[in-house]
Amino acid sequence: MAHEYTALSGDDDHPKPDVPRSPSIGQRHKLILALVASNVVLLACLLALGMHQSTLVRWRGAKPLYSPVQDIITYESVLFPKPQEKSRYHGPPTDEVDQAWIDLYDLGMSAIPKSQAARLPNRTEPFSAGSDTYLVSLTVFHNLHCLNMIRKSLWPERYSQAHRYDVVHGIGGDYIFDHLDHCVNSLRLALTCAADITPHIWRWNEKSQQSTGRSNVVHTCKNWDAIHEWAERTRITTHYNYTIHVLDDLVFPDDP
Ligand SMILES: *[C@@H]1O[C@H](CO)[C@@H](O)[C@H](O)[C@H]1NC(C)=O
Ligand SMILES: *[C@@H]1O[C@H](CO)[C@@H](O)[C@H](O)[C@H]1NC(C)=O
Repeated sequence: MAHEYTALSGDDDHPKPDVPRSPSIGQRHKLILALVASNVVLLACLLALGMHQSTLVRWRGAKPLYSPVQDIITYESVLFPKPQEKSRYHGPPTDEVDQAWIDLYDLGMSAIPKSQAARLPNRTEPFSAGSDTYLVSLTVFHNLHCLNMIRKSLWPERYSQAHRYDVVHGIGGDYIFDHLDHCVNSLRLALTCAADITPHIWRWNEKSQQSTGRSNVVHTCKNWDAIHEWAERTRITTHYNYTIHVLDDLVFPDDP
């Protein structure tokens, strides 16, 4: 019954000549076919567009591992400044420059809910017994701390030797932890891992009568403000006691 053609009200056997008839079965089939065809064409266009856009960044290889900030990441175009343009992070060092660096990264540890900790590729420690939050810190903040260490080492007259060589005791016998060397290596890993693939260009310089490399081009960047806001929002403001071992019930593949 549902599939049978039933006349609509007003669709009688003797229509007035000037009143348009409802479409016949054949006409309806044609109409449906036309709709299906136009949808197929639209779908093909969208696919073609999608394929064209995916040539910009084509995802191949390992899928990204879970990060608690993955859902807030958006991308934006950022014009990098000319090399001679000074920022508030440039030297020579002042209290204001130091504060700018502190504001950039010094947010401590973040507390994430247990549901997010459970999705991490690696187990992390609960903040405290019964708190149901877990400790993390995004790599980028450690790397900015490292860059600041290296910056300080460039100005030994202002910063003490402690900023240049941080010898951490108790990591096995004569082993000396060279903080600066560790930092250089961390940044090497970060730079090759994230690999900014924006091309620098060369332009003719009339004054010097030679072509010179230019870095003031637009880069595609993760939205830094969103990441920084996340770290501010989730930062731990109460004391974390490193010497208390809190046990929990999360299970990870690399558990012993
Ligand atoms: C994190 O997970 C990886 C992959 O399972 C493993 O190789 C690595 O040792 C883990 N790191 C820590 C600190 O547990
Ligand atoms: C951290 O926990 C240990 C062990 O319970 C305790 O002795 C110590 O006083 C705690 N430290 C702080 C600063 O609360």
